[in-house]
Amino acid sequence: MYRAPRGTNDILPQEQPHWRYVEARADDICQLYGYERIDSPAFEETALFTRSVGAGTDIVEKEMYTFADKGGKMMTLRPEGTAPVCRAYLEHGMHNLNQPVKLYYIAPIFRYERPQAGRLRQHHQFGCEAIGDNDPALDAEVIDMAWRFFLSLGLRGQSLLLNSIGCRKCRPDYLAALKEYYDPLAAKLCPDCRVRLERNPLRLLDCKTPSCQEMADAAPRTVDRLCPECNGHFERLKKYLQLLDIPFQVNNRLVRGLDYYTRTVFEIQPEDAGAQGTLGGGGRYDDLIEELGGRPTPAIGFGSGIERAILNLKKQSVPVPPLPRPQVFIAHMGEEAEETAIRLASGLRREGIGVVMATDQRSLKSQMRQANAFSARYCLVLGKDEVAAAAAVLKDMQTAEQRTAPLAGLASLLKQALAGE
Ligand code: HAM
Repeated sequence: MYRAPRGTNDILPQEQPHWRYVEARADDICQLYGYERIDSPAFEETALFTRSVGAGTDIVEKEMYTFADKGGKMMTLRPEGTAPVCRAYLEHGMHNLNQPVKLYYIAPIFRYERPQAGRLRQHHQFGCEAIGDNDPALDAEVIDMAWRFFLSLGLRGQSLLLNSIGCRKCRPDYLAALKEYYDPLAAKLCPDCRVRLERNPLRLLDCKTPSCQEMADAAPRTVDRLCPECNGHFERLKKYLQLLDIPFQVNNRLVRGLDYYTRTVFEIQPEDAGAQGTLGGGGRYDDLIEELGGRPTPAIGFGSGIERAILNLKKQSVPVPPLPRPQVFIAHMGEEAEETAIRLASGLRREGIGVVMATDQRSLKSQMRQANAFSARYCLVLGKDEVAAAAAVLKDMQTAEQRTAPLAGLASLLKQALAGE
């Protein structure tokens, strides 16, 4: 027996109400804030990700699904959504549009991670990118949008972590201070952090090893070494978040796992962080478009895992609406009745009435059992007599009342009955 690959899920019909619900809330919130949907390919040239996410990151070093295509080109299944959107922005000359260009996506993301609850090898992200504007009001708007998205799902108790990690101008000084602090501690670091000290010192701050965390707590803070521009930007962002009544905690160890971030970084944690981890995260990436060959273009965005949102909806027992399904079942006895049933089902569907028709010549009893199992609201029964009279027996499955109704008026009769529900 084949099984779905480790760390991937089939999204079965019974899961679909949750998925449609979360996606619909994402669509709603994007419409409210003026974001338009973009869908990019599931794979891109590998270099796009090594260039943007960064060669020293876990994603690029350990987690990418990379393969040579039949033409020998290196390709990678999308391990995140920001770089493809920036590639599309450049490829389609979106810098000629009104800035910022606001785009969103709902897409599968592939990372070869160690699977556990809430951590998958194929997960799905709802993400937003606002490209072409530097104003901290835009940072506040993106954070507000992420915050409201989780509230609109009905989730409670979320918290916002915020930090600023500076820009090209102030980052080198900060990194020098960080190295100076860590160099004498190198022997006490975990093996991963020893490598980070050489390759990507910023990531020393978010190591999960307890002894490294203690050292990180006492490390120099990015916010103390911001240049005046970055500092002013961060102060204004905090002011706007207060204006918007969004509570936040500045977390000096928040640096995020992708290299493209500048200035603002943020994460939204669920009520009960546990193993499921972060609901969503994002930040500014003011150098990325230039890094990919465009003109200097500031930008900010966020991404959130749909599976994690659903996990938390279930944990908090948030009800989600069921999906609409056919309300009418057609049972039939005999060959003639089946032919009439086929025509009737098709005619009702053309009128916009959802219908399920019994197939196979089963006993009437077994067909009624099927109608019950299907939770049909109404059942139409066709036998020899009904066919001769151009009528059907209409049974109300809730009250068990039944009457004979002419086929000609059935569509409007059912529409009326269903509209009155
Ligand atoms: P990220 O923090 O790597 O950011 O992922 C965003 C969110 O995706 C996480 O907060 C989490 O909810 C979900 N997620 C990540 N990895 C997994 C996984 N293995 N299984 C389940 N869910 C997961 C980014 O990807 C950035 N592109 C976000 C961004 C957009 N920054 C700016 N614009």
